[in-house]
Amino acid sequence: MQKLSTAILGASGYVGGELAQLLLGHPHFELKFATSENFAGKLISKIHPNLRGATDLKFCKISEVGKVDVIFACLPHGSLAPRIAEIEKLAPKIIDSSADFRFEDPENFEKWYGHPHPAPAELKKWIYGLPELHRAEIKKASKIAVPGCTATAAILSIIPLVKADAVDSSKIIFDLKVASSGSGNKPSIGSHHPERAGVLRSYQLAGHRHTGEVLQELKISSAGYSITSTPAVRGIICHAHAFLKKDLDDKSIWKIYREFYADAPFVRIVKEANGIHQLPEPKILSGTNFCDVGWVLDSNSKSVIAVSAIDNLGKGAAGASIQCANLACGFEEKAGLEFLGLHPI
Ligand SMILES: NC(=O)c1ccc[n+]([C@@H]2O[C@H](COP(=O)([O-])OP(=O)(O)OC[C@H]3O[C@@H](n4cnc5c(N)ncnc54)[C@H](OP(=O)(O)O)[C@@H]3O)[C@@H](O)[C@H]2O)c1
Repeated sequence: MQKLSTAILGASGYVGGELAQLLLGHPHFELKFATSENFAGKLISKIHPNLRGATDLKFCKISEVGKVDVIFACLPHGSLAPRIAEIEKLAPKIIDSSADFRFEDPENFEKWYGHPHPAPAELKKWIYGLPELHRAEIKKASKIAVPGCTATAAILSIIPLVKADAVDSSKIIFDLKVASSGSGNKPSIGSHHPERAGVLRSYQLAGHRHTGEVLQELKISSAGYSITSTPAVRGIICHAHAFLKKDLDDKSIWKIYREFYADAPFVRIVKEANGIHQLPEPKILSGTNFCDVGWVLDSNSKSVIAVSAIDNLGKGAAGASIQCANLACGFEEKAGLEFLGLHPI
């Protein structure tokens, strides 16, 4: 079977590099164009040394991209929306990692991003790229907006309990810890090694933009959402604190999670009674497309602490993009995403 051709816009970045690695090993996609305005003409393996020997493709500018079957956009927030009319002529399917098209409602976008959406009529054409919630729509979609990395971790941690009406959904607190590659490859004072190494820093304790997506997808009106940056390079861990509405025991919660994720090949329930890996942890998920979820019941406060972990560049961005592309192109959902991770790492 002939492979479908693809282009990555923003291929010199962290998400773009991860996508290149996944596409080069994919059974049904071939990587035809990889863009960088700064490194056009240079081998992509110069910037992503893990790709040495796998390709002799060179970066090109976006203006040099020809027609392909699928475009993966990994540009900074705000870069795709103003030029969507030009980009959509290049491919029948576009998968975007940025925040440009994640909201259904332009007013909601303006509320969380502080300015009107540059192409509000576009928003209704895009599907939120979380297969665990929108698999059927993604299969028919031509434009897919992959969720924010912390939003994926937050939503998947607790949604089974919210949908089962098992928790008070007006009082959920999401506490997230995020590794440094989540901020992309452009250095800033905050990401400079002497400022970041070994540091746990409260980064955004209220008002994070991903809150808006989480409210939209959980269909709730408010939630606490705090982010702490960690010294790790990859990974997100989310603790979602919620108060139980019903007297549930572990067995009933197992049933709720198991049923909700019965058809989700990348969500694993991790809740062991003993050993050192009792609950999800991000390190062993590096390079994978898994989201591990678990929980602990706190009988003292009648609350549940739901836990999820992902690789921000995997299930949080590039892996999720491939998962969505597989579904939208009629391929097996897991194609090209079989890597199980490393242990120890
Ligand atoms: N990092 C994560 O964990 C993560 C997770 C989920 C979603 N996302 C989202 O995914 C997108 C990419 O993130 P990233 O971390 O890969 O960012 P990044 O490392 O900063 O890479 C950005 C890419 O966009 C290109 N670019 C920058 N400005 C451009 C412009 N004006 N025109 C054309 N190309 C431009 C850069 O290429 P040049 O070489 O030309 O500068 C680079 O290839 C962002 O929207 C981000 O919010 C990131």
